[in-house]
Amino acid sequence: MQITVTVNEAAYTREVEPRLLLIHFLRDDLGLTGSHWGCDTSNCGACVVWLDETPVKSCTVLAAMADGHRVRTVEGMGMPGRLDPVQEGFSRCHGLQCGFCTPGMMLTARWLLDHNPDPTPGEIREALSGQVCRCTGYENIVRSVQWAAQYEAAGRDGGPSGGGPGETGHGPTATGVTG
Ligand code: FES
Ligand code: FES
Repeated sequence: MQITVTVNEAAYTREVEPRLLLIHFLRDDLGLTGSHWGCDTSNCGACVVWLDETPVKSCTVLAAMADGHRVRTVEGMGMPGRLDPVQEGFSRCHGLQCGFCTPGMMLTARWLLDHNPDPTPGEIREALSGQVCRCTGYENIVRSVQWAAQYEAAGRDGGPSGGGPGETGHGPTATGVTG
């Protein structure tokens, strides 16, 4: 069957097997390997992407179900030369070690901050509760999301924010974020 999916603002038309999973469409057909395939049983969350405006585990979605829809992957976060504040937070607060879980974590965190700009640590943990990290112990992931929230709040308050790595000296410091 033929499907057309808009991924990170670009439309792709491909012939696919009806049973093809979205994670494999993204990785194998489109070469977008930022989304990871960790378990195939809907447990790890490494495969999380946005389908339209909602984070989904792309190992539980058929590529055919994305036909006519928009998908956002980690490759679509930020802009060239300018990280999304969530990405910046993970970098500054050491929210990753091996990085396998990180793309999915960041996409869920981005969705959370778009809907709840000032989440509590408990709300961050709840939002990310469907995703597994084997490395970090989660503390630094929570701090990373808090960093991004505070950075974006500073921007809304008229501070010298902006979300780009060239401006990182103006955001809240990693040590200024408490867990
Ligand atoms: S690969 Fe999708 S939840 Fe693990
Ligand atoms: S950083 Fe290794 S699994 Fe999360």
